[in-house]
Amino acid sequence: MFPSSVSAREPLRSESTGAFSEFVNPQWVKLLNLLQMNVSYTRCSGAELHTSDGRCILDFLSGYCVHNPGHNHPGIVAALQSELQRSGPAMLQSHVPEMAGELAAELCRRAGGRLGKVFFCSSGSEGVEASIKFARAHTRRTGLVYCSGGFHGLTCGALSLMGHDFWRKGFGPMLQHCREIAFNDLAALEDCLASRQMAGFIVEPVQGEAGVVIPSPDYLEQAGALCRKYGTLFILDEVQTGLGRTGAFLAAHQFAADPDMVVLAKALSGGLIPSGAVLMTNAVHHSVYGSLNRALVHTSTYSENSLAMRAGLATLEVLDRERLAVRAESLGSDLRRRLAAALSGYEMVREVRGLGLMCAVEFSSPRQLRLRIPFASFGKIHPAMFGLMVVMRMFQRDVLTQVCGNNFMVLKVAPPLVVTDEQIERFVSALQAVMEAVHAGGAFWSDALKLAQRALAA
Ligand SMILES: Cc1ncc(COP(=O)(O)O)c(C=O)c1O
Repeated sequence: MFPSSVSAREPLRSESTGAFSEFVNPQWVKLLNLLQMNVSYTRCSGAELHTSDGRCILDFLSGYCVHNPGHNHPGIVAALQSELQRSGPAMLQSHVPEMAGELAAELCRRAGGRLGKVFFCSSGSEGVEASIKFARAHTRRTGLVYCSGGFHGLTCGALSLMGHDFWRKGFGPMLQHCREIAFNDLAALEDCLASRQMAGFIVEPVQGEAGVVIPSPDYLEQAGALCRKYGTLFILDEVQTGLGRTGAFLAAHQFAADPDMVVLAKALSGGLIPSGAVLMTNAVHHSVYGSLNRALVHTSTYSENSLAMRAGLATLEVLDRERLAVRAESLGSDLRRRLAAALSGYEMVREVRGLGLMCAVEFSSPRQLRLRIPFASFGKIHPAMFGLMVVMRMFQRDVLTQVCGNNFMVLKVAPPLVVTDEQIERFVSALQAVMEAVHAGGAFWSDALKLAQRALAA
């Protein structure tokens, strides 16, 4: 594995990003360097990221909705430490992992509805893959319906449920029998389901990477009813929206949705251990695992590992004790109110929207000629150029944000649910200052041009 002259314990390069660049992903390092975001983080706590050069950066991204309880929540860290210290059974693959039972019971109790069983895994994509197999096993159909703009993961099955060419190019062929429809369009859904060949309809209750797109209030309830009418399973991908993010334990609760399966991941372990879960009805579970010889028909080595289960239980405790879903709801509406007030005068701000602390600021192309010309030229270089410049400027003001993966004109605003009033105020002022610079013309746009030149030369 290692060249004979190099010990496995010695770092292969003195600079940490040097080894990463050489052995993991040089392009990612280049991109961070270009955006001047390649800093060295030393300590992360709550919504604050401290760097080796003394900066304190506010996290308004939360690792794409991973850090709901805040970075390194002491309650979850302590639970993990005690789990390691007890030297308990881990991945024997030959015993009953009791903690998985406990966590599954807690998840089903909170999720409610018809969800009575859980399959654990280690990522959102893995959960989506499982839901595809389970839907097919239960319905004995092969078709899958998904919504345009959605994000469900980058493994081959999950990728087959995402229409964007950017993610798919070069990785085909995708799964057969997958149909894309518009989000929030019940007529299109019914048209598709009426063939009675669809095993599952998978949808995010609020589309995250599409631009934090919120459906009409009755969409999910009606979609579920249509699925029942045509014998298709209704699968909610709550990988981003779950665990209190939108103001309830599941976003499904806010829309009176009654899913057959719910996929969770990201915040499930408080951002400390890879973890995912598929919650499902007893009927779906029975179709997959309904006889002795099918007891292990779908498993995954690390799925019920004790660290992930312990972290999951501790995360649920923190969510309850600190009432983080309620907090997300009230802080979220406050954040949007403040943002809307601060950004109302800027023509390139189209909308501030969100649910709980899953919020977004959508930009539009400028009307004034002096802004329209540079905006159009950057768009030709790369459609993400404008959004990335905003991200870079926010970072210079010590705030970490990102644009949505499938909609570069939307800035995602999703801090940990423990974010404080004062941190929200800092975020709003920083974005207002950046928007002021954007609309003033000058440096924002000339710096963008330099960035584009550096990107092309890289
Ligand atoms: C809604 C949604 N589903 C699924 C996934 C895939 O999760 P993972 O990256 O853990 O595989 C993501 C990842 O961002 C997501 O946002």
